[in-house]
Parts: sequence; C-alpha cells; structure tokens
Amino acid sequence: MAYPKVTVVGAGQVGATAAFLMLEKSLCDVVLIDVAEGLPQGKALDMMHSRSVEHFGPKVSGTNDYAETAGSDVIVVTAGLARKPGMTRDDLLTANGRIIRSVVEKAVQTSPDAIVLCVTNPLDIMVDLAWKVSGLPAARVFGMGGVLDSARFAHFIAQETGADISTVDALACGAHGDAMVPMPRHSYIDGKRLTDLLSADRVRELRKRTIFGGAEVVSLLKTGSAFYAPAASIVSMVKAVLTDSGSVMPSCVRLNGEYGIEGVHMSVPARIGRAGVLEVPELDVDDVERTALQESAETIRVSIASLEAMDA
Ligand code: LAC
Repeated sequence: MAYPKVTVVGAGQVGATAAFLMLEKSLCDVVLIDVAEGLPQGKALDMMHSRSVEHFGPKVSGTNDYAETAGSDVIVVTAGLARKPGMTRDDLLTANGRIIRSVVEKAVQTSPDAIVLCVTNPLDIMVDLAWKVSGLPAARVFGMGGVLDSARFAHFIAQETGADISTVDALACGAHGDAMVPMPRHSYIDGKRLTDLLSADRVRELRKRTIFGGAEVVSLLKTGSAFYAPAASIVSMVKAVLTDSGSVMPSCVRLNGEYGIEGVHMSVPARIGRAGVLEVPELDVDDVERTALQESAETIRVSIASLEAMDA
C-alpha cells in the first residue's frame, strides 16, 4: 500500500515521538531528518524494529540529507532548542529563528507542494517566520499551539471536576506562551458551558494552570520540555490534513481581520484539510474575549518586531 509521505524535521523528543505515533496509526511513511549524524537514522531503525510487534504498515527512515525528504505531503518542523527551566519561549527567539530559516528554505525547495506545520518555539513568531521564508500561501503554513494548549485545559478541567475526559471540549486560543487565552465560555463539559458549571475563582485557577502547563512540565523534567502531548497534538493536525477531514481545530494561522486582528499568526479555531487552512470560522466572542485576543496578538507583534530589529 502507498502511504502519504511526511517529513519530520528534528529527531528530538517531540519529533521522534510524533514520528512513532504516526507509524502506530499507520498514517504515513515518515522521513526523520536532523543535523545530528546518526540520531535520526538510529531512531528510525529502532522504530522499524518494532514493526513486527506493533504491526504497522508504513516505513520510517532517518537522514541528514534533504534530498530524501523530496515530494513530502507534509513537513513538520520541530527543529530548535528546547526550553530549559527558567527560560521563556522568547529566550529562544534568535537561536531558533536561525534554525527555522535554514530548515524551511531547504525543506520547501525539495517539497514545493507540501503543507508546513511548524512546532518550534516561540511558536507564533516561528510560524510567521516560516511563512515568510517559505514563500508559500498562508493557507499552507500554520502551527501547532492551540491544540496542545486546549488539550492541557481539557485535562485540568477533567481533573478538577472529575468529568470523563471524553465529555470535555476545551478551547485555548491566542499566543502559545504567557499571553495564551484559554476560553472557558467556549469550553464545555457534556455540552454545558464551563462558566455555568464552575465559580469564577475555580475557572481562573484552571486558566492559570493551563497557561503555565508547559512550564510545569519543564520544571519537573529539569532537562528539556514536554513531548508526549505536543507529539499527540501534532499527529492530530497531520491526520486532519492527510485525511482532508475539515475538522475545526485551534491552529496557529495568519489572521486577516478576524477578531479585529490583522497580519499576525496566532491560534484560533480553523478548519484544517488537505489544502491546509480551509477557513477561519469566527467564534462568537464577547468584548472581554475580543480584547484578550487582541492583547495576545499584540505581544506576538512586539516579538516579531524585535526579531526583525535584531536581524536588521
Ligand atoms: C510546551 C512547549 C513545547 O508548551 O511549548 O510544552
């Protein structure tokens, strides 16, 4: 059987875990690429050794050469430095900016028809940079931030209330960082609004825990940052593309006036399919939510300007 081809750039924890999940789901063939010699090859071989145990059909290969990524349907960019304890995502700005430029240029050259899913932090700024470097239409370059943040919000809601996780439908939008905007009025347990079920104080605590969910993992691990939930979130987005599902998922997309925001990449609900971002259906936000989204977008705009200033 012929499978679609997905390249995962970066064979670290996030990239390798995403690759393995894609194989486990028999979603696509995977090419794992990294600058470190032996690392993607070794991890790919290790995954292939599990084939007869796990019974997956597709193949994974590891390489340091972009020629082997040619003709990919999706390019997932996880390459970059991970946060260390006490480090903000913005500390990574310049270092990862350099990596994104080099990676995206090479990957898009060999796979000009690919969808690019960017995961590297600081996410929203790196997606903007990846889009600019790629020269591709905005619909084909987007980022994974909101799916992960919403998954964390869902977990904390389920944990706090005792609700079964399958009944929780949570939404977090905005910047993937301290300016995140978890949206309790658009989050539900069994179809009921969270704001109708919990006190304002409990909602505030859940929002806070969500915003610092990534940092909580970093401080526990001590070396490196989260990778299981980020990888699962990546795979859900890759699946939406490859199956042309048209699912609406919080995705870091370029805004063109939605929510009164122009020319910034930020997570909001977006319809994802084979052509990338198919539509950005606007949520019915109130004034507080609209302002929060706009303030979040402003923090991203400031970071983009500071990255551009550093490069000038
Ligand atoms: C996190 C990093 C991956 O949120 O951004 O865990």
